[in-house]
Amino acid sequence: MGEPLTVGIIGAGAISAQYLDTFDTLPSLRLAAVADLDPDRAGAVAAERPGTRAVTPDELVVAPDIDLVLNLTVPAAHADVAGKAVAAGKHVYGEKPLATTVAQATEVLAAADQAGVRVGCAPDTVLGTGIQTARRAIDDGSIGVPVAASAVMANSGPESWHPSPDFYYLPGGGPLFDMGPYYVTAPVTLLGPVTRVTGTAGRPRPERTIGSGARAGVSVPVEVDTHVSGALVHASGAISTIIMSFDTVATRASNLEVHGEHGSLIVPDPTPSPETRHCAARATTTGRCYR
Ligand SMILES: NC(=O)c1ccc[n+]([C@@H]2O[C@H](COP(=O)([O-])OP(=O)(O)OC[C@H]3O[C@@H](n4cnc5c(N)ncnc54)[C@H](O)[C@@H]3O)[C@@H](O)[C@H]2O)c1
Repeated sequence: MGEPLTVGIIGAGAISAQYLDTFDTLPSLRLAAVADLDPDRAGAVAAERPGTRAVTPDELVVAPDIDLVLNLTVPAAHADVAGKAVAAGKHVYGEKPLATTVAQATEVLAAADQAGVRVGCAPDTVLGTGIQTARRAIDDGSIGVPVAASAVMANSGPESWHPSPDFYYLPGGGPLFDMGPYYVTAPVTLLGPVTRVTGTAGRPRPERTIGSGARAGVSVPVEVDTHVSGALVHASGAISTIIMSFDTVATRASNLEVHGEHGSLIVPDPTPSPETRHCAARATTTGRCYR
């Protein structure tokens, strides 16, 4: 890998703005190219950034100067875009989920192993202060042997704020693929690997109405389950309960809790807002704040 690492973005939609802001603070990365199925989106980014060119997705993955492809496409395209980049010898970092089936994910990782390139995937929030602090508190024995966790992401769906929420309700979308990566990665980080999964899911509404942007008022079809409830059995024997829902108008459930034989940890949200990002874990038994 070169220094700085030369990056090409595929997918210049809503989330790309956050990545673009971050590039300006990271001298170890250089954004050289951007591509999108919609060339105007790629063109708009390139026009704002001297030194960044707009290309097609196919041109980007084979461009000799690109070290890493940043895959910010919609979930259903993640495995295909990552696979093409890996086949062209590029490292890949992608938005979650890595793929929408285990088979596709396994294929991407196996191809990357063969090609000698690296594949990374969001979320990286488990590396942040809150969950790392909770992990240390657990490792230090502050709640005794962990026996259970609960992870809850429950809201009424992204159509109120996302101007193009269609993909959230198409195969590859839904709360489990959209937010589950945060709320599954967190208990796995805290309690270790999972050996057994059970669950059930429902789809109470056949369509959703866009609440903002140029298409406000337009209905989009719902083709995925929008309330998912599951139990994860960790190799240690601990059990995590997961609720991922786009069918919840108001909830008072904690986003993430871990329960041990001597106490419970209320862990910060794995998808922190700017307001809560710097909070660290708090033990309910002692009130002690971990930083
Ligand atoms: N919007 C958010 O707040 C947010 C937050 C965290 C993560 N994410 C994740 O980021 C990803 C993108 O979300 P978004 O909100 O930016 O979606 P979006 O629909 O706004 O943008 C996706 C872009 O990818 C392009 N695209 C789709 N398939 C493509 C392909 N095969 N080749 C090239 N371009 C393609 C689309 O034209 C579009 O411009 C998703 O995986 C989502 O889960 C989004």
